Amino acid sequence: MYRTLNRLDLQKIIAHCKGDYHIELLEETDSTNRRLRKVAERGAPEGSVLFALHQTAGKGRMGRSFFSPAGSGLYFSILLRPQAMADGMKITAAAGVAVAEAVQEVLGIDLSIKWVNDLYWGNKKVCGILAESAMDGKGGFDYCILGIGLNVFEPQHWEDALDQIAGALLPETRENVMEPLAAAILDRFFGWYPKLSDPQLMDAYRSRSFLQGKRVTAVRGESRTVGVVQGISDEGELLLQTDDGELLAICSGEVRLEDYR
Ligand code: BTN
Repeated sequence: MYRTLNRLDLQKIIAHCKGDYHIELLEETDSTNRRLRKVAERGAPEGSVLFALHQTAGKGRMGRSFFSPAGSGLYFSILLRPQAMADGMKITAAAGVAVAEAVQEVLGIDLSIKWVNDLYWGNKKVCGILAESAMDGKGGFDYCILGIGLNVFEPQHWEDALDQIAGALLPETRENVMEPLAAAILDRFFGWYPKLSDPQLMDAYRSRSFLQGKRVTAVRGESRTVGVVQGISDEGELLLQTDDGELLAICSGEVRLEDYR
């Protein structure tokens, strides 16, 4: 099952990486998050990375799926063993910033980050991030699987009506894009990872905020709160001025804008 692929060449990714990571590449899997979780449970070290050319059941947040057609995107997961619970939200922030920085570096495209973990180019979502954690029974993390799905090339067909809300970075397949992009994301992420408490991380995140000043609906379970986004706190909470005049700091859930997911 493990082999080097034409469309995403493992050796080229490794050659582009400045850091030394344990990277594996699958032609196809159900979900790199699901697969890497099994590897984590067998004790694999932090820094293990699993790419797949194609996911048959890519996972999104809130029980959604993530469309992962072969050759169109980067679909990969990183195994982390974070020290502190407080690192949870910051890991997602670091991943968002890392993807935005890497896309800027390799393709010169500026992405925005829609709290908490979607990346947008214009009004289309081009990247989703899913962090899934397991606890160690002592109040800390056993591991965190950080999954990143970036739509690099426009697929031949989008499933369902996904093209209304999702987009890709480039209109057609091109050589020498996937590997440098993958390597730049890993290097940027592992550059931020030891600095999760550094105020520069949240500054970098805020500077790309897609929601600043926008009117949104915050969805948490069954509850819906409408308000205007005032900013993002140093802890990564979304600051929402509600129609009742209250300032809420929202730490989980998601927000919806009309016409966006
Ligand atoms: C979202 O947009 O809701 C998050 C999408 C996360 C998708 C990535 S693709 C690689 C990794 N494996 C998965 O099954 N999901 C994540």
